[in-house]
Amino acid sequence: MNKIEEILKEFSNRFNQEVNNFFYFPEGYERRVVDAMYYSMTRGGKKLRPFLVCETARMFGVNFTQSLNVAMALEMLHTYSLIHDDLPAMDNDDIRRGFPTCHKKFDEATAIIAGDGLLTYAFEIMSYPQTSPDAGIRCKLIEMLARAAGAFDGMVAGQMLDLIASTYAAKRENAETIIKHIEEMKTGRLLRYAVEAGAVLGNANAEQMAALINYSRKIGIAFQIADDILDETGDENIVGKTLRKDLEQNKITFVSLYGLDMARKIARELIAGAEEDLHIFGEKADNLKALARYIIERNH
Ligand code: IPE
Ligand code: IPE
Ligand code: MG
Ligand code: MG
Ligand code: MG
Repeated sequence: MNKIEEILKEFSNRFNQEVNNFFYFPEGYERRVVDAMYYSMTRGGKKLRPFLVCETARMFGVNFTQSLNVAMALEMLHTYSLIHDDLPAMDNDDIRRGFPTCHKKFDEATAIIAGDGLLTYAFEIMSYPQTSPDAGIRCKLIEMLARAAGAFDGMVAGQMLDLIASTYAAKRENAETIIKHIEEMKTGRLLRYAVEAGAVLGNANAEQMAALINYSRKIGIAFQIADDILDETGDENIVGKTLRKDLEQNKITFVSLYGLDMARKIARELIAGAEEDLHIFGEKADNLKALARYIIERNH
């Protein structure tokens, strides 16, 4: 394990312990949906988005406890997106993070409402005073999260495009525009939110905010390119999900459009640019820079 992997591991251990503090289990039969939510929140995952929230905030002197609510809400929202992404009507996956997907462990209807439950709970957590003592900041963070996750140019929009893109991508120019939008929205927006929210918690000034947004946009796209490369070249036991599915499901990705070598090159260039974007922070940003490199070097 290199240093950033160790830092991530330590972070995810700490974060995972906190998950328990956000759950309680009703006594009635409705408990089933909470069990399904808890199941999906406690079965693996790299915790990259929470790490980005807390690490960005840390650069501004904001500690783990002070950034935890935003990190937790974002991971819940991300987990909901994965539960729904895996459903038979979407990507139809049986394995997620090395475990049976939520609808395999429970059933489809429970998985749908467990996703709804996590999405809703994310916003409840964001509204708590522990998220930020300043109600104005909380409101701003909530608006940003809703937009990043939403249907106009957020994650939900990206998921829609991902599902229907192959129908519209017959022409190459079309495909090139579509793929950028897919990668930017379905994955990029939540990663960008992670960094931006950390910066808002840290009261970043305009120059710092701009630098962090530039960084996050680049790592967001590079992250999805790496996911698409792993889908084609990864080891299922390490990645923890069924691979070689993008081709089978006719997905439009940087890999399907440009081939593996070119996709790798685009991702490398994005990451080099992302590291440069952080130069104003000096050594304080070393972890964020290392994380950017990890995003394209990872094997899971
Ligand atoms: C997977 O995200 C879904 C995409 C947006 C590509 P991650 O690779 O961050 O998934 P986990 O949370 O580590 O399982
Ligand atoms: C999923 O993208 C992105 C979201 C859930 C928003 P993918 O469909 O490529 O993710 P994996 O490969 O199933 O993790
Ligand atoms: Mg998908
Ligand atoms: Mg999928
Ligand atoms: Mg994928």
